Amino acid sequence: MAKDRVYVFDTTLRDGEQVPGCQLNTVEKIEVAKALELLGVDVIEAGFPISSPGDFNSVVEISKAISEPIICGLTRAVKKDIEVAADALKFAKRPRIHTGIGTSSYHIYHKLNSNPDEIVERAIAAVKYAKSFVEDVEFYAEDAGRSENKYLARVIEAVIKAGATVVNIPDTTGYTLPEEFGAKIRYLKENVKNIDNAIISTHCHNDLGMATANTISGVINGARQVEVTMNGIGERAGNTSLEEVVMILKSRKHLNLQTNINTRRIFNTSRLVSTLMRMPVQANKAIVGRNAFAHSSGIHQDGVLKNRENYEIIDPKTVGINESSIVLTARSGRAALKHRLSILGFTFTKENLDHIYDDFLKLADKKKDISDEDLRALAGKEEAIANNKIHLVRLQVASGKGTIPVATVTLEIEGEEFTATTEGNGPIDAAYSAVKLIVKKKNKVEEFLVQAITRGSDDLGKVHVQIENKGIRYYGFSASTDIITASVEAYIDALSQII
Ligand code: KIV
Ligand code: ZN
Repeated sequence: MAKDRVYVFDTTLRDGEQVPGCQLNTVEKIEVAKALELLGVDVIEAGFPISSPGDFNSVVEISKAISEPIICGLTRAVKKDIEVAADALKFAKRPRIHTGIGTSSYHIYHKLNSNPDEIVERAIAAVKYAKSFVEDVEFYAEDAGRSENKYLARVIEAVIKAGATVVNIPDTTGYTLPEEFGAKIRYLKENVKNIDNAIISTHCHNDLGMATANTISGVINGARQVEVTMNGIGERAGNTSLEEVVMILKSRKHLNLQTNINTRRIFNTSRLVSTLMRMPVQANKAIVGRNAFAHSSGIHQDGVLKNRENYEIIDPKTVGINESSIVLTARSGRAALKHRLSILGFTFTKENLDHIYDDFLKLADKKKDISDEDLRALAGKEEAIANNKIHLVRLQVASGKGTIPVATVTLEIEGEEFTATTEGNGPIDAAYSAVKLIVKKKNKVEEFLVQAITRGSDDLGKVHVQIENKGIRYYGFSASTDIITASVEAYIDALSQII
């Protein structure tokens, strides 16, 4: 029997990018969009055009740069939003407007100060208005997870009648259980007269850790589009993760469902998104975590050596994890470096490439073989530093048993150099205090994560830092064989974003 197609709607650049501190500039968004196109997603939600001139511009530029996937822009059920989205999508080869309104009692009475009848009218008007600009209109019933099924069915029937091609049933607050969510989709399949004129979409949030389970339950019960983000990034606990849903559908063949995703590109795309958004992937994250395919207990190692399938349900190569991807050495030239970076999804100007090449040679002097992970770290560092207003000029630290750690830091801020010396409870703490003295921006370091890329003591250390300023979070990233330098650079990267 032929497999049914499930469409993959990627919202990394809209719902994913809403995470405070994870904002990308237009060039970075185009890089991600191109990687998503190569990955084989069907729809790219490129932004919420009315929300800011930056978002508007990104939707315009992504529309120009991308050929295959549908490009989608989000709106509220508001005329002006829809006009602005249509304008932003004017260069898209296959444009889609994604409009909608809340349908739960919470949203109807306590957010929109409205009533159920009026909401149905506003939903119909929004779809009809969007339809006057583009053929492909998706409607979302915000907080559908907590909406009453009978009322939800009434709204969905009305918007399909008005011309909606896709109806999105979001579990906005991540509240439902898989069985409930599946039953909701089945209810719509069975009770909305014209449901076969539209595709049902799932859009699940992960507040109770149920996003993937709910999405799969929705698909089993008739949904044929899944709204997902790479690495599951998104507001609060995140959205459904693309890689999990895709690999479930691929691995569990009895479901008889397939996507268009080239799974061998999953790992590279995951790391590109993590690097550009400065959002580390947790080590035990399903499919793309550093430990997802690492077997540490002796019994498991022995079992895998006897037959991989004893303990592995997925061949790591299927998702693009290839242990033997060591490719470059100190003798490799600029062209080889550029080529490899482009395979990993990075594009750089000649000047930025020169910086990376210098860093690459320095690293190759310290380390014999340069892996893809090393290159990603170097590229991520270059991306982080390229637009920053603060640069680390010099760093000197003195620490050791029986001494008080001291750091002297010199920073260049918009062309001027500043130096400070301070003590701390360790060399990083001392250096951070010196940076704080110079930058004078109130902030709190909320998270600090150092990871070695491979295993040796000559390895690159990647540092992710999360800081808080006036209730907003900012993320910083850097990498170096000197982890104190990387720690200071990552902190500066985060501080640069406040400035
Ligand atoms: O979570 C949600 O309800 C959304 C909609 C705007 C689609 O992101
Ligand atoms: Zn959402």
